[in-house]
This record gives sequence, C-alpha cells and structure tokens, in this order.
Amino acid sequence: MRRGLPAGMRTTPRLALRPFHRRDAEALVESVCSSLPELSRWLPWPHPRYGRSDALRFIRDSQTAWEEGRAHDFALRSHTDGVTHLGNISVWPTSRREQAGEVGYWVRSDHTGQGIATEAAARVLQVAFEEIGLHRVVLRVAVGNRASERVAEKLGFVREGLLRKEVLVAGTWLDHSLWSLLDEEFRRQRAGYAERGWLVGRA
Ligand SMILES: CC(C)(COP(=O)(O)OP(=O)(O)OC[C@H]1O[C@@H](n2cnc3c(N)ncnc32)[C@H](O)[C@@H]1OP(=O)(O)O)[C@@H](O)C(=O)NCCC(=O)NCCS
Repeated sequence: MRRGLPAGMRTTPRLALRPFHRRDAEALVESVCSSLPELSRWLPWPHPRYGRSDALRFIRDSQTAWEEGRAHDFALRSHTDGVTHLGNISVWPTSRREQAGEVGYWVRSDHTGQGIATEAAARVLQVAFEEIGLHRVVLRVAVGNRASERVAEKLGFVREGLLRKEVLVAGTWLDHSLWSLLDEEFRRQRAGYAERGWLVGRA
C-alpha cells in the first residue's frame, strides 16, 4: 500500500478534484452555508455559524492528514467554472494491514441531481484502488439518505448491513447502512464507469 500520495489534480470528464489550499476558505464557507439544510440533515459537522475559522481549520487539518497519509480530501470544481466550490470528496485508509479504506462526500445543494457525486466518487475509487492500493473501500450512508444510497448503487457498491446508531447528527444517533466495493469489483466495473462518462480514458 502506498503512503505518499502525490498532491496533484485528478480529473474526470466534467470535474477537477484537487487538494485544498488556504485560498479555498471563502468558497468553501459559501458552499457550506448555501447547503446547510441538506448537509446538516445527514452530517455531524455543519452548523449555522460555519465560517472562515472553521474552513481554515478544516483546510489545515486536511493538509496535515494528506502529508501523513491519514486522509485525502479533494475540493470539487467544474472545468468550466473554476471558482464555485461544488463539494468535497475524501478517501481515507482505515487499516493498513487489511488494505481497507473509506470514502465520503458532499455536493452543494444547488448542484445536486447532476451526477457530480457519482462522477467524483468514481475518480476517488480509482485513487483508492489504483494509486493507494486498497483492497476494500466502504461507504457509510445514513438510513433515509436515498440520494447517497443511489450513488452507492450506481457505482456497484454492495450493501452489507446496518450500523446501529452510528453517527450523532444534531443530537440524534442515526443508523447507517454499510456498503463496500472490492478491488476486483472496481476493476471489473472500471470500463463501465468510463462508458457512463464518469471517468476519462480506457473504456
Ligand atoms: C448525497 C449527495 C452527495 C448526492 O450528490 P449528487 O451529486 O446529487 O449525486 P448524483 O447526482 O451523482 O446521484 C444522486 C442520485 O440520487 C437520486 N436522488 C436524489 N434525491 C433522491 C431522493 N430523495 N429519492 C430517491 N432518489 C434520489 C438522484 O436522482 C440520483 O440518482 P439517478 O442518477 O439514478 O437519477 C448530495 O445530495 C449531498 O451532498 N447530500 C448531503 C450530504 C450527504 O448526504 N453526503 C453523503 C453522506 S454518505
């Protein structure tokens, strides 16, 4: 399993995925604040006063985590609009011995329903399996979050079961379903991802 992941940009047909810089703070705050009702419904960290200091702390932690190989957070931009922050997507190794990792994402609310999460996740799975060398990647989805379940289904994740009261969101413990994708499953589906326009290259 690879430790030092290059910090360059990764691309998909419509998107650029790149590590965070300090200068992303304002665009990140704007994106989080404009998406607060949907984000705070499913995720533990967004709050109504999310501001520049929260974004700068996230970016600083993200840069350290990348250097230490603990997590790889990508900012999402479109090729046509390099300014608007479309969302975040991350992959983090959870066990070096088991070559296991996890993926997580969010997309700003005024850009959902356009396939952005699926396209970005396809590219991050490529990072997970082909660059980091993971053997198994999981995704945890809050029960009731159909949009995120659809992303998992479209990418060919297999639903494994239920994690009871897994994450505390706004004072309530939410059950999550656990989904996984194995390296051989990714390799089998990779050409299909490209055919569906989620990845550039070898179809
Ligand atoms: C979940 C999320 C990332 C999806 O982003 P997105 O860019 O809209 O995802 P995609 O467009 O790639 O796919 C969404 C799919 O869900 C479907 N969908 C969306 N809302 C739905 C709903 N209420 N019921 C059923 N299907 C729904 C869409 O139609 C689409 O499926 P399709 O391609 O078969 O039509 C986004 O809604 C989000 O950020 N939500 C808040 C944070 C969050 O939940 N993060 C994930 C935590 S696991």
